[in-house]
Amino acid sequence: MSLGSTMAAAVFMSLAVCGCGKPSNAPSQQPSMAETPSPSAAPLSEAQKSALLAQLPAPYRSADVSNGEAKFALCRSCHTNSEGGPDMVGPNLWGVFGRKAGSKPGFSYSDDLKNAGWTWDASQLDKWIASPRTDLPNTKMTFVGIQDPKDRADVIAYLKVSTSPAPAGEAAPAANAANSAAPGG
Ligand code: HEC
Repeated sequence: MSLGSTMAAAVFMSLAVCGCGKPSNAPSQQPSMAETPSPSAAPLSEAQKSALLAQLPAPYRSADVSNGEAKFALCRSCHTNSEGGPDMVGPNLWGVFGRKAGSKPGFSYSDDLKNAGWTWDASQLDKWIASPRTDLPNTKMTFVGIQDPKDRADVIAYLKVSTSPAPAGEAAPAANAANSAAPGG
């Protein structure tokens, strides 16, 4: 009906007019809803995921997050990654970026990891999941490691977007909808 198309045009116009403080190259497509959201948290928008990945060094920014999610199956038998998720054989990994190694309260780490003295970032995680025992022969993480560097980069990118709070300054999908409902200027 013509009313419907008029409204659609109006919404389109207000979206086009309203830059909303985003860079002009922000993706305009809605994220696909194919991913299963974790039970506790709202899924991040594509813009929020991009903003998180942009905090990583270059090779990780262009990593294949879906492949990383698939490869994270290797970790799921021992680790949860959602906010407030339980510790299992290994500690919950929510907030692992920037966390001092072996410091999550309530988890019983090996002395070696508690005393490792490093803070988790992309390159430290890369060394770790390549072969935990290389740096810490007595670690409790009995995991042989991921040999393929691309798979490691993909897992690390997936970890970044799945264990980090939503970045400040990037609107969630619901906020976008609210903005576009407001009368344009
Ligand atoms: C067989 C179980 C197991 C598997 C599989 C496993 N982990 Fe672990 N992970 C552990 C345990 C146990 C620890 C604690 C190690 C210690 O205390 O020495 C740990 C520790 C960690 C830590 C350090 C966390 C902290 O708070 O300092 C990270 C990061 C980590 N694992 C990531 C991964 C990733 C990513 C994968 C998959 C690629 C993986 N792990 C696979 C059991 C596992």
